[in-house]
Amino acid sequence: EKGTYPHYMLKEIDEQPAVLRKIIQAYQNEQGELTIDSAILDALKEADRLYIIAAGTSYHAGLIGKEYFEKIAGIPVEVHISSEFGYNMPLLSKKPLFIFITQSGETADSRQVLVKIKEKGYPTLTVTNVPGSTLSREADHTLLLHAGPEIAVASTKAYVAQVAVLMVTASVFAKSQGKELDFDVVKELGIVANAVQAIVDTKEELEEIAAEYLSTTRNAFFIGRNVDFYVSLEGALKLKEISYIQAEGFAGGELKHGTIALIEDGTPVIALATQKAVSLNVRGNVKEVVARGANPCIIAMEGHEEEGDRFVLPKVHEFLAPLVAVIPLQLISYYAALHRDCDVDKPRNLAKSVTVE
Ligand code: M6R
Repeated sequence: EKGTYPHYMLKEIDEQPAVLRKIIQAYQNEQGELTIDSAILDALKEADRLYIIAAGTSYHAGLIGKEYFEKIAGIPVEVHISSEFGYNMPLLSKKPLFIFITQSGETADSRQVLVKIKEKGYPTLTVTNVPGSTLSREADHTLLLHAGPEIAVASTKAYVAQVAVLMVTASVFAKSQGKELDFDVVKELGIVANAVQAIVDTKEELEEIAAEYLSTTRNAFFIGRNVDFYVSLEGALKLKEISYIQAEGFAGGELKHGTIALIEDGTPVIALATQKAVSLNVRGNVKEVVARGANPCIIAMEGHEEEGDRFVLPKVHEFLAPLVAVIPLQLISYYAALHRDCDVDKPRNLAKSVTVE
């Protein structure tokens, strides 16, 4: 039930701090250490490469999951769009483990990959919000998102849950391999939950940003580097699916290889700068588009913000920055859709779960 909320999407955005706390709790043992099912840990240990298969927002979460597994646990990962993988399978490693990320557990494109992979006899894991869903039942193992039912077509809390559960899984796996992490995941996820709360408490500011940049525009660009690039893809998808504004997410450095031709006077460019090592490069990309007339909106992380940045995210561990950077993008999309009189929870042409291939 959406209670006093005007839309499920807004309610689900507001639930995100609680979802993060629930995940920390659900994956902790009595000693307060993070843990996952030992059979899943064994499957990870057996694998020489992970293949993440997903669609839409879940695919964007998978891209961040790849960073976690490769950088924290040291295992190679490929991330594939399910609708492509089914018909155009890459060469596989000797011992692949397939990880299906799906909020609903019912996405037909992902399921058809699962069916083919099972025929080949490879091990499978589904990361889903819905226990008992088709992909959960048909895979060897399941990891639950604990996000509670997600009703709005635009996925918000499930994305945050997917990224958090992938971090938990990668870190538990890394530790089981004797790798020492230089940060405490439980503590850092707790900091993230507070940061997300602080952002959802600044709705008026984000509503103003939406009004200023997006109430009449035809198009919008999102840019970022490293994990911010992946969050840019998610920000663009969120905006286009509910506000019908043509939006694209780009790697900051890629814009100049063609797309910059689309920048006109007043084109909104939303730039994410959460990663210290590449923050100056992103700012350089912003200068390039501003020189062509763009209206820039820099979203930076506390600690390396600069004057003129439009929104400053509370400081969190850089690995976990996607969990906070996505929140203003969700809220900006929500308000942009509202200002343009769109049906926020049920956008045209879309269903909550896509059960046709
Ligand atoms: O249920 P799934 O996670 O498998 O769904 C995948 C996509 O259909 C879904 O993420 C879609 O992109 C959302 N509407 C995005 O907000």
